[in-house]
Amino acid sequence: MNIQIFDDVRTLSAELATRVLTEVRLQPSLVLGLPTGRTPLPFYQALRAAPAADWSLVRTFNLDEFAGVSPGSPASYRAYMQRELFGPMGVADENVGFLNGTAADLDAECARYERAIAAAGGIDLMILGIGANGHIGFNEPGPDLHARTHRAQLQPGTRASNAALFGGDVSRVPESALSMGMATILQSKAVVLIATGAAKAGVVRAMMNGRITTSVPASFLQLHPCVTVMLDREAASRR
Ligand code: PGA
Repeated sequence: MNIQIFDDVRTLSAELATRVLTEVRLQPSLVLGLPTGRTPLPFYQALRAAPAADWSLVRTFNLDEFAGVSPGSPASYRAYMQRELFGPMGVADENVGFLNGTAADLDAECARYERAIAAAGGIDLMILGIGANGHIGFNEPGPDLHARTHRAQLQPGTRASNAALFGGDVSRVPESALSMGMATILQSKAVVLIATGAAKAGVVRAMMNGRITTSVPASFLQLHPCVTVMLDREAASRR
């Protein structure tokens, strides 16, 4: 893993935005994998503030979406991405890959997503956050992990950390979601994982230096040949 440590979140986010924009300029039809959550918000802000780039050919696939939450709901990850990136950057709907948590057949929806990623030629650059429990996407710790896009049961801590999208009421956060699987993520050509804040320091250490274990799904990134881990000082403090 290539480790980069930054003085603060702003510098980290600006550097990642520069990397993404450089890749978009070099490869206008870049296929990007994208995360939601609190960590990437300053990164999306940095992209919005950057000099204009041509996003007309860029295609995106987000990691996950809540089951039972429609794309039009403000609580959906689809709506988050529209607010934070797709709207401001003018990413056209037809270039956006997203799981639909209200599809009639969720298993068929997961299979459709796998086919869509494959038809795009796979993901060139996958940007990830990490949960305090070691999850990436909604691949939660457990006795085993799913290889492919699947329905995931959310752990209580994961639901709690998403409560803000549901008016702060954790009971309204769905108990399940759809998520890219571990193989889907690991088949990306390059991966960048970002983590900020002291609350992530322990799990960052386990991810980078611990055993590869389904108890820390992000530890499987140790097997990927092209991973960059971007940390602020707090998240790097226990390495
Ligand atoms: P966070 O979530 O950025 O809100 O901490 C990260 C994640 O769960 O992947």
